[in-house]
Parts: sequence; C-alpha cells; structure tokens
Amino acid sequence: MDQQELKKAVGRAALQYVKSGEILGVGTGSTVNCFIDALKESGISIPACVSSSVRSTKKLEQYGFKVLDLNEVERIGVYVDGADEIDPHFAMIKGGGGALTREKIVAMVSDRFVCIADQSKKVDVLGKFPLPIEVIPMAVRAVSRELEKLGGKPVLRDFTTDNGNKILDVHGLKIEDPVQWEQKLNQIVGVVTVGLFAARGADVLLLGTDEGVQTLKP
Ligand code: 5RP
Repeated sequence: MDQQELKKAVGRAALQYVKSGEILGVGTGSTVNCFIDALKESGISIPACVSSSVRSTKKLEQYGFKVLDLNEVERIGVYVDGADEIDPHFAMIKGGGGALTREKIVAMVSDRFVCIADQSKKVDVLGKFPLPIEVIPMAVRAVSRELEKLGGKPVLRDFTTDNGNKILDVHGLKIEDPVQWEQKLNQIVGVVTVGLFAARGADVLLLGTDEGVQTLKP
C-alpha cells in the first residue's frame, strides 16, 4: 500500500476515539488532513474542535466544523495528531509542518493523545528526522550556537510559524534519552518550543502498515 493509502487508513481508524458531544483536539499535517476528511465523511456530531494550526482550522471550518480558541475550553478528551518519528516509548519528534508549539499546548490539555502515523514513522531511536525547534526571531543565531555546542547542526527553515517565530531544524542528534533532551533544550533562552514530545508523549499509536492498522500502546 502506498503511503497516502496508509495515512487514509489511520485517519479512518482514529474515528473510533472520537466521542460525539465532546470537544475534539485536531493536529496538523497530511495524516491529520486524512483524519479531517474521514471525520467529515463519518457524520459524527461534535460540538466543536480546537486546532493546532491556521491550516487545520481553515480545513475544519470549510467542512462546517466549529473551531474554538483554546482559551474558551478547559479540557479536551482526545487529541488526534501525526508525528515525524515515534519511538518505542511513544516519545515523538513533531513539527515537520511547523505547528509544534500549538500542538504541544493542545496536547497538554488533552486527556488522551492519539498518534496517527504510517509505518515509516516508527523508529528505535529518535533523531534521523531533523528536530524542529521554534525560536524567537532575534535569538536564531544565539540559539544556533548553543545547539552546536550540544553537537547538533541547526538549519534555519525558510518559514514563519503561526506565532511569528522561526524554526531551526537540528540535524545530527541521536536522541536516546528524549525526556532529558527535551528538558535541556527547553532551557535554552530564546527557544519557544522543542519538537520533542517526550515528557508528554502519545497514549495510543495507530500505525498504518501493509498488514493493516495496528493499535499500539507504549
Ligand atoms: C506538524 C506535525 C505533523 O504531525 C508531522 O509533521 C507529521 O506530518 P505528516 O502527517 O504530514 O507526515 O508535527 O507540525
């Protein structure tokens, strides 16, 4: 099965976690786009969503879903989002689409993080995918120097986030202890968000494989 078919399959599989009547957290990316399409087709009635990006908000609103600002919501039952890499403990690298900060915030207030991913995303050790870090624009060079001291090779992405910040994609890291790395990188002044979701990883992984969608727990 090609990658797009696997994304569609996990998008459909995530519908089982959507409860009608409950506010839903919706992430960002091509896999999540498949989930939003499946949600529309399913006809499941949800009162509203909270989205992690302007892109997802636009798509949801085009389909007629109500999208709330997170400040209007106290709690989200389920958050569905993709990942760039996910390890056996369900720590993830996220932010390939540049939405990492809002994704981390929505994940924080969600009871359950359902990760949807095709088989290419499952890895033993995080770091082959360059780690996205959102940075305050004036701190790009200063943060880059700090990252180099830690052995990373930061590359400035030609992109501005929904929050008006920049992204450094850090190559060359072998992230064997993602919780420690997340803490360490969070402490660099000028960093807004690290695209490592380790302290709060996924709770369920719906993995699209050639043999079908597997439901995995950490
Ligand atoms: C966006 C993300 C995405 O979840 C991640 O990049 C995966 O995207 P895709 O489903 O397109 O492979 O973190 O910031």
